[in-house]
Amino acid sequence: MNSAPARQQQEQALDDVSSTLLIPLAARAFGDAMFPAQAVHDAYAAAALQRLKIGVSHFLDDPASVYGVLSRTRVFCELAHGFFDRYPRALGVNLGCGLAWYFQWLDRRSNRWLDADVPRVMALRKRLLPAGGKRLGHADVDLRRPGWWRQLDLPRRRDGSPVLLICEGLLMYLEAEEVQCLLHEFGEHAPAGSELLCDTLCWLAAGRAAMHPSVRHTHAQFRWGLRRMAELTEPHPRLVLLSEHAVMDAYDFSSSLSYPTFRALYGVPLYGIIRLGVSG
Ligand SMILES: C[S@@+](CC[C@H](N)C(=O)[O-])C[C@H]1O[C@@H](n2cnc3c(N)ncnc32)[C@H](O)[C@@H]1O
Repeated sequence: MNSAPARQQQEQALDDVSSTLLIPLAARAFGDAMFPAQAVHDAYAAAALQRLKIGVSHFLDDPASVYGVLSRTRVFCELAHGFFDRYPRALGVNLGCGLAWYFQWLDRRSNRWLDADVPRVMALRKRLLPAGGKRLGHADVDLRRPGWWRQLDLPRRRDGSPVLLICEGLLMYLEAEEVQCLLHEFGEHAPAGSELLCDTLCWLAAGRAAMHPSVRHTHAQFRWGLRRMAELTEPHPRLVLLSEHAVMDAYDFSSSLSYPTFRALYGVPLYGIIRLGVSG
């Protein structure tokens, strides 16, 4: 399953950064059996992998990452449900969606959802995943390019209906200026009450993807890591930090000490989830 031709096939279909989508896909397909208490019951991931015919066993040899994906998926879902409790008809957007299918967990029968990624990934998505219903849309986007908010035709009236954005496993692959621009665009255009949920790695990870037991297989590089919490709100005066959520703290004894200690010492999470909002 993990053969050289299979890897070659993967490399042809996806570039370095896009091939990182295989890490969460493998975790959601096979991770439930490894960590039943963190199970996400993904109904699509295993079938997508089967159609893709790509070996992923090397990703499953990295249990911490498998756990991290399941744990973060559950946190994103919980936060998103909190948002849709308040705004049941709102639009949710998965920026850099890869082959994740969040609407299976977040469909409230009245809300809408948009999955967006680079064209190559969206084409793969079309081939591997079902199209979904009327309330589920798809779009090509390059989030490094300013203007993505308009390109995705997201609501621009500041007094309009709030929007939920998920940005999962994405920001660490962008340059610092691109992250600032992305956050600026959210702050500039999003209706008041909108939220952006993202995961962040700390600055020490930048340039060190080769040391990551899963990401090293993809040859992608971590370009940006959080050094100060203020970096998340400085890009626009409307941005507010709403909350911060642990992902790895309950993984094992060592994580239960190292992650909170790192946060206390350095003032940013080593890895965690951030919930940003926009004021009126
Ligand atoms: C680690 S994967 C995460 C996929 C998905 N969010 C998940 O958790 O399953 C990173 C994703 O970000 C996407 N991505 C990276 N750079 C992007 C960009 N400039 N514009 C849009 N998507 C991008 C990749 O194509 C890939 O699907």
